[in-house]
Amino acid sequence: MNLLAIETSCDETAAAVLRDGRELLSSVIFSQGEIHGPFGGIVPELACRRHIQVISPLVRGALEKAGLSLSELDAVAVTAGPGLIGALLVGVSFAKGLAYGLGIPLVAVNHLEGHLWAVSLNEEAVPPFVALVVSGGHTQIYHVRGLGDYEILGGTLDDAAGEAFDKVARVLGLGFPGGPVIERAALQGDPAKYPLPRGLDSRQTLDFSFSGLKTAVIRQVRKAYPDLAMGDSLEKIPPSETKDRFVADMAAGFQESVVGALVERTTSAAVAAGVSTIVLSGGVASNQRLRSRLVEMAQPHGIRVLVPEPVYCTDNAAMIAWVGYRYFQRGEFARWDLNPRARMPIGYGKGSRT
Ligand code: KG4
Ligand code: ZN
Repeated sequence: MNLLAIETSCDETAAAVLRDGRELLSSVIFSQGEIHGPFGGIVPELACRRHIQVISPLVRGALEKAGLSLSELDAVAVTAGPGLIGALLVGVSFAKGLAYGLGIPLVAVNHLEGHLWAVSLNEEAVPPFVALVVSGGHTQIYHVRGLGDYEILGGTLDDAAGEAFDKVARVLGLGFPGGPVIERAALQGDPAKYPLPRGLDSRQTLDFSFSGLKTAVIRQVRKAYPDLAMGDSLEKIPPSETKDRFVADMAAGFQESVVGALVERTTSAAVAAGVSTIVLSGGVASNQRLRSRLVEMAQPHGIRVLVPEPVYCTDNAAMIAWVGYRYFQRGEFARWDLNPRARMPIGYGKGSRT
């Protein structure tokens, strides 16, 4: 059984072919990082245009790599939401046309559900477990009881963790996407040099708030560089050793604060739920500090931490294929009038997947 999956919810165009729900024959990703970099964030209109340009050759590439022709496909799975509506439309329209033309089923997949199960591409996650999904658009803790059976235990009240990384990187003049550059800068920094707030009290709530932290970083930047114009980033300040040190210390302090908030809540959620596994996923899960702190904190409770390899942490179609295959097996196909949705709760479409 060969399933082709397509993912276009944000700034990555991706396609993958999965055989029998387990054997990944190919997984290809076209990243638009360099297109959006100069803007310090994703420009939806540019993302859509690039998806349109690359989707066809990308799918062809995924099939070639898998050594398959179109006629050997048995189903097409596609991310139907949440995400940028225009970007989603490209993938959904393409997948619909392809599946309809080939006369094979179409399966709609929730992007977050893809992240939730991504680790299974490396090592199958067996429910029940607690999952932390941390990406550029989402920061949520789930209690996973089975496929399609999820309870949201906590989430962000404002910015997603990845979004906070991106915004702070911009202020520090480090570029986009922010996560990897902050992580690199933080290696040289002292996290205790500029104490930053942790947001909400993790003993009281499993929810997050990162906007205060971002404001605190901006305040420290203004204090250190009072001549900087409103809205300008440290990019405007000429390079110097003092600046490098300041940026490294801020990056380290910021990362420590975000990681602390994520790790404390996820561990308490897992302890309270009585599970023995925590699954970490989403773009921010490629952060080494987050991975190691979570393991350190969970271990004393006898909880093991599963993390996908970095390529399956960020957006990819392999995770969509993994979930898509399981709904295919249940016979939960999408209808031909499937429409993508910018907002889509994780349990959406249960039973019908339309
Ligand atoms: O899952 P993803 O590829 O796309 C979304 O669905 O949003 O996540 C992208 C986010 C970006 O905000 C990026 O800055 C963040 O993941 N990210 C990281 C790291 N690598 C990527 N954040 C922290 N540390 C990293 N190493
Ligand atoms: Zn994502």
